[in-house]
Amino acid sequence: MAHNYQPGEIQDVADFVGDSLELSQQAALSQSDVILFCGVHFMAETANILSPQKTILLPEPNAGCPMADMVTAEDLRSKKQALQGIPVVCYVNSSAAVKAESDICCTSANAVKVVQSLPQQEILFVPDQYLGQWVASQIGKKLHLWPGFCPVHAGILTQHILEMKRDYPQAKVITHPECRLEVSQLADAVPSTSGMLRYAKQTDTKQIIVGTESGIIHRLQKEAPDKEFIPIKPQARCPDMKVTTLDKILRCLEDMQPQVIVPEDIRVRAYAAVERMLQVV
Ligand code: 13P
Ligand code: SF4
Repeated sequence: MAHNYQPGEIQDVADFVGDSLELSQQAALSQSDVILFCGVHFMAETANILSPQKTILLPEPNAGCPMADMVTAEDLRSKKQALQGIPVVCYVNSSAAVKAESDICCTSANAVKVVQSLPQQEILFVPDQYLGQWVASQIGKKLHLWPGFCPVHAGILTQHILEMKRDYPQAKVITHPECRLEVSQLADAVPSTSGMLRYAKQTDTKQIIVGTESGIIHRLQKEAPDKEFIPIKPQARCPDMKVTTLDKILRCLEDMQPQVIVPEDIRVRAYAAVERMLQVV
């Protein structure tokens, strides 16, 4: 299984390519005993949380996510104490230990729906402040935002969009909700990575300006070849997503290592948060 940001040659050998939500749904449904996960660590962890009986392989164990590292379980516990009784919504870009401290998870594809599904009006949202700001702008709830962010998406600025809109006046703009709020507000749509593909297939517009990590362009061009995709910032590249190589995949399959295994006491609590999300979508 491969995430939409993986290098093109990795996507091309995968049985399934998707966004974080689709990958976790697929991990839960898959009949395979072994899943080789081409993505970053939290994605492989989520697969293990949902399917502990399966062997989950991650070809490069150091493929992390800087945003996921911006919140620890310990810091979250302290914040929960300070904000007594407020439910915690946790973006899947987080460690299993952080998920275990949370009431429900969300992905970029369902964050608005997940927050809306809760009866409470006040919510602690971790760790992505920009996704949290986007959700808050879509619904009338008070969100306490953790100050985390994705360095790749935070580097996409309004000036980049404005320049592109000037150069391609007929084009539509799609940006990922991990972008800064002022960037999202300039876009025609703010979907998940697979949502971008659905948008591209449905729209009549021929040119689409894309504001997210550059790996998605491979899939967009492959599956919507009649459209022209213009990256807002071609240098927007997640180094952790690019450490997977075909050689590492081969070695990983030969050795059945490295595996990702979440300690059982953390897994069962994290499972509750991920499973609650899957009940909402
Ligand atoms: P998606 O769930 O939209 O694929 O996003 C995952 C991610 O890491 C974005 O940076
Ligand atoms: Fe994390 Fe950003 Fe890379 Fe996604 S693109 S894995 S959020 S660092």
